[in-house]
Amino acid sequence: MAIQLIGTGSALPKKIVTNKDLEGMMDTSDEWIYTHTGVRERRIAVEETVISLGTDAARAAIEDAGIQPDEIDLVICSTITPDCPVPGCAPNIRRNLGVENAAALDLNANCTGCIYSLAVARGLMETLGFKTALVVGSDVLSRITNWEDRGTCILFGDAAGAFILRRSEAEGVLAVHIAGKSDVDDVLTCDWPAMETPFSGPKKPNNEKIYMDGHKVFSFAVNAFIETLERSLGEAGIPKEELKAIVPHQANFRIIKSTARRLDIPLEKFYMNVDRLGNTSSASVPVALDELARSGRLQSGDLVMLAGFGGGLTYGSALLRWK
Ligand code: UT7
Repeated sequence: MAIQLIGTGSALPKKIVTNKDLEGMMDTSDEWIYTHTGVRERRIAVEETVISLGTDAARAAIEDAGIQPDEIDLVICSTITPDCPVPGCAPNIRRNLGVENAAALDLNANCTGCIYSLAVARGLMETLGFKTALVVGSDVLSRITNWEDRGTCILFGDAAGAFILRRSEAEGVLAVHIAGKSDVDDVLTCDWPAMETPFSGPKKPNNEKIYMDGHKVFSFAVNAFIETLERSLGEAGIPKEELKAIVPHQANFRIIKSTARRLDIPLEKFYMNVDRLGNTSSASVPVALDELARSGRLQSGDLVMLAGFGGGLTYGSALLRWK
């Protein structure tokens, strides 16, 4: 059975927070942030939520795909910052879209969430017969960002991206690879608030904000990025020279640059918006894909590689033949 990605969408919070704005909040500089990360500014949700951004991104993807919302029979929302545990973000997005009947689930695979979601959607379409899947990646990382840690808070932003997968005659998803390594050193963590029950007694507060060992995550990220790209290319039997574009997780410009150099792929093939949006976790890859698609740079038949890595430690990629 063949599956194609037939539409993309994205949604951004209105508020822009620049590096200059952060200079007024902590001991940092635009120059340091830009040279160490490639980030100039990020969007921060004020009124927006994971569900509202996710719904807007989904609407844009549905319109782009030229389908009706009730054709969707599977909704997956990738998020690490859900607005609520019950009924979850995906069921709320389904309701906002006016879709009466569709399986809906939230998925947490950190910054690789949308690649994992694509893999899960493809698996469910192949095994359970779903015809049209909506994948949303939506995160409001500003909620769990430690705004007192200048080593991490400068990296993150809020956004949502979405895409539609549909059963098709022509094969559009040529290869998918998802993988993980145990984070035995706790290099990237964030806990729920300490949850007390009448039976547990008082609990010590947890670390409710993102903690990251940047150096260790950096070296994991470059190796994982290279491995997953090679795995998907190998599965599809396609040489890297044939890739039209690579849509990487927008974690840090330097990670992308190092990967491009080690793989000997021209940097121009890597789509980047990290300067405008920072790292938006689940939203990172689908927002970048949506921007690339809407830029008009992709032609039908082009080969596009999506690749992500993040907490967990998760990583993965998907090779697409463009619709
Ligand atoms: O999506 C999850 C994946 N996450 C990632 O991929 C993140 C991977 N890691 C990174 O992107 C980088 O490690 C960071 C951007 C987080 C940090 O960059 P770095 O080049 O590794 O900097 P560093 O941590 O080695 O810090 C260098 C110096 C330190 O000062 P000293 O000890 O040399 O005096 C830091 O205290 O820069 C200092 N520093 C800052 N200075 C100004 C750290 N943050 C800042 C800041 N402004 N915001």
